[in-house]
Amino acid sequence: MRRSRRVLCRLTMTMTLLALAAATARPTALAGPPGEADILTPRPGPAPAIRGPKAYGCRPGHPFLHRIPCTGRRPIRFSAEGLPAGLTLDADTGVISGRAPSAPGTFAVVLSASSEHGRSTRPLRIVVGDTLALTPPMGWNDWYTWTDRITDARMRSAADILIGTGMADFGYEYINIDDCWMVRPGSSDPELGGPARDDAGAMRPNGRFPDMKALTDSIHARGLKAGLYTSPGRTTCAGFAGSYEHEEVDARKYAEWGFDFLKYDWCSYTDVAGGSDRAHLVKPYALMGGLVGRLDRDIVFNLCQYGMGNVWEWGGDVGGQCWRTTGDVGLEKADHLPGFYRVGLSNAAHARNAAPGRWNDPDYLLIGVVGKEHCGLTANEEHSYMSMWSLMAAPLFYSGDMEKLDAFTLSVLCNAEVIDVDQDPLGIQARVVRKSESDLVLAKPLEDGSIAVGLFNLGEEPRELAVSWAELKLSGEHRVRDLWRQKDLGTARESYSARVDRHGVMLVRLAGPRA
Ligand code: GLA
Repeated sequence: MRRSRRVLCRLTMTMTLLALAAATARPTALAGPPGEADILTPRPGPAPAIRGPKAYGCRPGHPFLHRIPCTGRRPIRFSAEGLPAGLTLDADTGVISGRAPSAPGTFAVVLSASSEHGRSTRPLRIVVGDTLALTPPMGWNDWYTWTDRITDARMRSAADILIGTGMADFGYEYINIDDCWMVRPGSSDPELGGPARDDAGAMRPNGRFPDMKALTDSIHARGLKAGLYTSPGRTTCAGFAGSYEHEEVDARKYAEWGFDFLKYDWCSYTDVAGGSDRAHLVKPYALMGGLVGRLDRDIVFNLCQYGMGNVWEWGGDVGGQCWRTTGDVGLEKADHLPGFYRVGLSNAAHARNAAPGRWNDPDYLLIGVVGKEHCGLTANEEHSYMSMWSLMAAPLFYSGDMEKLDAFTLSVLCNAEVIDVDQDPLGIQARVVRKSESDLVLAKPLEDGSIAVGLFNLGEEPRELAVSWAELKLSGEHRVRDLWRQKDLGTARESYSARVDRHGVMLVRLAGPRA
């Protein structure tokens, strides 16, 4: 066990530059990358349509920031009924900011957006308490695109693109720096070397990040949130300085800089762990989770230790809101299916451990251009990837190249009805209804009483896939809606079936009389 962890650790440490190659190692589909002709998602219209989470958790008295995701032609005027005292809404930008109420409580807020093209309303339940991330966090993480070339300018550019492309209007909000922002001990590169810690003992950024506070200020000024990465070990996976024996001073520094998300990556901690039983695996996460939970700031805590010691059973108890359940999706080898299926299926086994504020994390969305090249997935595979992650209520972090986002990739990332499945406030992860060599059926109950069902064709030929009401524990007539095409398909009784292309998916919402 210990040996396999060491191997895993070594593997992750060699990853810095191998990741991109591995992520794109499977053969590119002969037809070339998907294009506009493959788009299924209808374009959002000019009328305002509020998107995004319907439930939002925050801690009492902490700074609050939420940009209302809303598509539609600007200018749009925003308003909100029922906002708790201490929070104000900027009517032009739709950004809610201020301080959360000092006592726990639930506030049923109704958001509105109007313009000359129409009007939209949507409920938002603000829950002041101890649970953050009531719906899975969404955003962008730089790792698979920039690895050890990440800079302040690239993070700022990603924030601009998140707004400019409209991704933020669908709920993507975190702009997260991964590894390689700190000093690399022993490096002779003037940008990366130098003292790893400041006079007070806190971690220093390397020369590519001249002013962390200015960076988070600029991200916050857009209504977005900022994330950071560190390791409980002496060094990170890529050999940069880690937080070992400096956890408290570092946690305070991250809050002082204004970060809203922290990924804590095991890596070289194996060298100092002193054991590999569950207590030793839990220890560094309980330490940092406790510190982060006591800061005067809401920081989502993301455990990254590749699923060791069944982290899904205890990640939430040590202060985590999400935990990686597997190794890196970009290192996963393809067999007849791309690697994300294997990662997704392994993550799917932990459905019962997911809940609001406690999410299984199967790693990032690697679609479109990732690193230097297209990821090599077909249109069907990209739709399947996003469908699987959404059904599993996974954190939705894109890690491809923001500067090379095309219309097709955006159409996969930004389908409001698919994202609603991921963000459903009930927070139930899809269960595996059926899995065989050739097909996979996932089903996720939703808050309004309807159920999202994904029929995945794992085979090499188009096939008819069916699911029966007996398998779904349903009865009677149900309305069927195709979520990718956002089209009603009529009603079905006793079963539903569809023809699904090679490696494709049919993602539907089944609504009975009460939904
Ligand atoms: C590990 C993690 C990745 C990434 C790299 C950074 O491999 O699992 O997600 O953070 O480290 O070095």
